[in-house]
Amino acid sequence: MPPRGDTDGPGDTPDPAGPERRAVTVLILNGPNLGRLGSREPEIYGSATLADIEAACAALGAELGLDVDLRQTDDEAELIGWIHEAADRRLPVVLNPAAFTHYSYALRDALAMRTAPLVEVHLSNPAARESFRHTSVVSAVADGTITGFGPQSYELALRAVARLLNRAGPD
Ligand code: DQA
Repeated sequence: MPPRGDTDGPGDTPDPAGPERRAVTVLILNGPNLGRLGSREPEIYGSATLADIEAACAALGAELGLDVDLRQTDDEAELIGWIHEAADRRLPVVLNPAAFTHYSYALRDALAMRTAPLVEVHLSNPAARESFRHTSVVSAVADGTITGFGPQSYELALRAVARLLNRAGPD
């Protein structure tokens, strides 16, 4: 059971102002080497930094009624700790697991305990790259995966989370 008294997840006691009005926190979690965006292989990942992506997601989140909390780590244990936190707080997650995508069964097992929407994202299209990137051990436990749209993958993922929470505006 998640700890009681935490009120920022979608499944908590309704706000008197109405459940549709209260912003839900979405964790946007990023795995190894994504802190180097902007200078990391720009021909593959583009020139936007993670700070640029955070700013774009914060602006879109404000439109969608979602508070974004973007984090990055190169450490598998720290990332798994954040996944546990999301499960306990019933927070939706947008996750770019980076290279962990392809081999981290520990990350996959942590994600299997999720209690809220999960959208996997990639800047590049791993299916069009080296064969070791064609496997995702995460996809099967996610609601869906968005790949290949550069920084816009994150914005599309946020929109998907809003849909899954029934917070999206009209088409
Ligand atoms: C990535 C794709 C992964 O294969 C790679 O290891 C990354 C970034 C992407 O966003 O395109 O680090 O997740």
